[in-house]
Amino acid sequence: MDPFGRRIDYLRISITDRCNERCLYCMPEGYRGWAQRPDHLTTAEILALVRVAVGLGFRKFRLTGGEPLVRADVVELARGMAAIPGVEVIGLSTNGTRLAGLARPLRAAGVRTVNISLDALDPARYRRITGGNVADVLAGIRAAVAAGFERVKLNVVLLRGLNESEWWPLVRFGAEHGLPVRFIELMPVSHADALDAARFVSVTEVMAHLDARDRLVPQPDPRLGHGPAKYHRLERTGALVGFIGAITTQHFCETCNRVRLTADGKIRPCLGQHGEVDLRSALRRHATEAELAALLRLAIAQKPAGHTFGADFTPCRPMVAVGG
Ligand code: 5AD
Ligand code: SF4
Repeated sequence: MDPFGRRIDYLRISITDRCNERCLYCMPEGYRGWAQRPDHLTTAEILALVRVAVGLGFRKFRLTGGEPLVRADVVELARGMAAIPGVEVIGLSTNGTRLAGLARPLRAAGVRTVNISLDALDPARYRRITGGNVADVLAGIRAAVAAGFERVKLNVVLLRGLNESEWWPLVRFGAEHGLPVRFIELMPVSHADALDAARFVSVTEVMAHLDARDRLVPQPDPRLGHGPAKYHRLERTGALVGFIGAITTQHFCETCNRVRLTADGKIRPCLGQHGEVDLRSALRRHATEAELAALLRLAIAQKPAGHTFGADFTPCRPMVAVGG
């Protein structure tokens, strides 16, 4: 339990801060090298921390980045995590561009669920937002479905002037492929100019937009995740749609169940607050498991009641370098 009575059992692990895309809301100028390679935790170090986390009651883990699939040893890492008793769920968050070749080995290694970013289906719009090639992502999505993950979800960041015309096609795409689509409010978590308030769209607006085309029926299904998304079913299309209103939803942080591990070995108790606890230096001076556990406990004890995006939050590195 953290100081606000929240049970923290979910660790999101950024395994690299590198990325092969340059999303407008994240790394618009491309990867700038926040951490040097020796700063990144090794697979052995990450596995040591996962063991410690399990000892404190963590059960759910997610591999994120940067783009986790640019790290060469990601399959080996997933396999190592899956072998640790007490690790119940391993999820992956990816931009999908490298998933076509990696979906099967990752599934075989024990990854159970995959979240894929897909901000637009139209190739030109997708390129404008991410710099990448949507055909690669679509191939990755097909491979993920074929590989038999327990759940594949699509994530869409809401961007005024960039993807409004894509919301409905994305929902249709999700319905056709049986994949939940989640709409995410833009968070001020990088230096990007695109984070301009003029780009912001609330989940309330996208809900109204979808409700005008098909009726939204709230889904109280707890199996869909203990995460922050509120799910609805669209009556006619059958689409399952989630809304992550990190900025406009009141009490958003009250059910927060997670902390983050950065690629360079810091625990971030909250995405929307600066505090970090350094575990890498402890790992590198060969601290005992008990010492590492004490540091992780300290990070949980430092978890604030909520984010302060509304105030004047100026991030020091993009969200995805913090375990998106
Ligand atoms: N605001 C909202 N979501 C973001 N993501 C990355 N940066 C932001 C941001 N500034 C999302 C990605 C991906 C997940 C890892 O985080 O789209 O779905
Ligand atoms: Fe890369 Fe993800 Fe950031 Fe886009 S949001 S630049 S895919 S890390």
